[in-house]
Amino acid sequence: MKILLGVTGGIAAYKALELTRLFIKAGHQVQVVMTTGAKEFIQPLSFQALSGHPVRDSLFDANQEAGMGHIELARWADQIVIAPASAETLAKLRMGRADDLLTTLCLATDRPVMLAPAMNRLMWRNAATQENVDVLKQRGLEILPPASGEQACGEVGEGRMPEPQAIFEAVMRAEKMRLQTQQAGSALKAFWHNKALLITAGPTYEDIDPVRFIGNRSSGKMGFAIAEVAAKAGASVTLIAGPVALPTPQGVKRIDVRSAQQMFAAVQQQVAAADCFISAAAVADFRVEQPASQKLKKRQDEEEMTLTLVKNPDIVAWVAAQDNKPFVVGFAAETNDVIDYAKDKLRRKKLDMICANQVGEGQGFERDDNALTLISATEQRGLALSGKREQALELLAFIAQQQSSVD
Ligand code: C5P
Repeated sequence: MKILLGVTGGIAAYKALELTRLFIKAGHQVQVVMTTGAKEFIQPLSFQALSGHPVRDSLFDANQEAGMGHIELARWADQIVIAPASAETLAKLRMGRADDLLTTLCLATDRPVMLAPAMNRLMWRNAATQENVDVLKQRGLEILPPASGEQACGEVGEGRMPEPQAIFEAVMRAEKMRLQTQQAGSALKAFWHNKALLITAGPTYEDIDPVRFIGNRSSGKMGFAIAEVAAKAGASVTLIAGPVALPTPQGVKRIDVRSAQQMFAAVQQQVAAADCFISAAAVADFRVEQPASQKLKKRQDEEEMTLTLVKNPDIVAWVAAQDNKPFVVGFAAETNDVIDYAKDKLRRKKLDMICANQVGEGQGFERDDNALTLISATEQRGLALSGKREQALELLAFIAQQQSSVD
């Protein structure tokens, strides 16, 4: 791996020598960029001797630029590591400034950037620094939390740079994770590219009268996340959405419906073109037999009122019963005995796969995370709690696996 190591001004700068040695020993290439502050603490020559490359420290030095221009240097790196990262450098990165070589390189790169902040404990705790760290994290930079202990200034607290070995391991771990995600991504694309996915999401509303309805707590977030991830993987996605206020994921064709009957009609119209049907909607099992055409009035003499409900069509079971049916995936949202109910539904509705979803007690509905159990006739896989997009990725990978083993 080609590592661009940024060293900024701080007493921990000397530890960056050991970090350079660890990278080189493991067979990686290192080029070091120092800030003016860093050179107050340590000699560039030490880094040059260890890395085998002259140290870069200036944006405007014609000789240095003649060797390798700064944009070339930014392109050269697979990974940028700044250790130690001073409070000043964090602030400059947050602002997007480019008044020295290191910050310019960070602006001019799309490669991963990892920071190992090191500073006095009060500087670290300062709201300004913490805010800078939060913003940088949101932008996708990886920040290694500083260690606690005795500081060079004599104080004790959080702000020490993690040991070089710990930084080295964090860089290796990040690289391994990137490779894994890349591999999983290309496997997903290989399967889903040009596949037609039809998916339902959200609740249905069954009208009682023009102002009241029977609904449920499905947010639609799980189905929308699946639609988004599948579209990113190259699938052509049609999303039939119950009443939810979620933005349409990019590249997804959306059909809005309100009731189970409308959802059924839309599915009937679209299903012939689908290679896969995922029924993530929480479809109402019953609807009001005769919705009132005018708002029902409260009558003084009435202590009770009765609504007659009739059964809705079971959409997913209907799809699964078709000749030439697509690969059919259902959801089972339950508050108890989830896996047993899910397995029963898989058999009863003749689905190819079901996603068991524990709901209630702060789980499942109306949330951004989830923990599905994926069940097919031959396999069961429990997913760890994670964001709905991550769950969607695993789900789509599971479908790809199931279908590839059939083909
Ligand atoms: O039977 P139950 O509603 O628990 O089954 C859940 C699965 O069946 C979900 O995938 C849901 O989208 C689907 N379903 C359906 N039509 C219904 C009821 C549920 O497609 N009327």
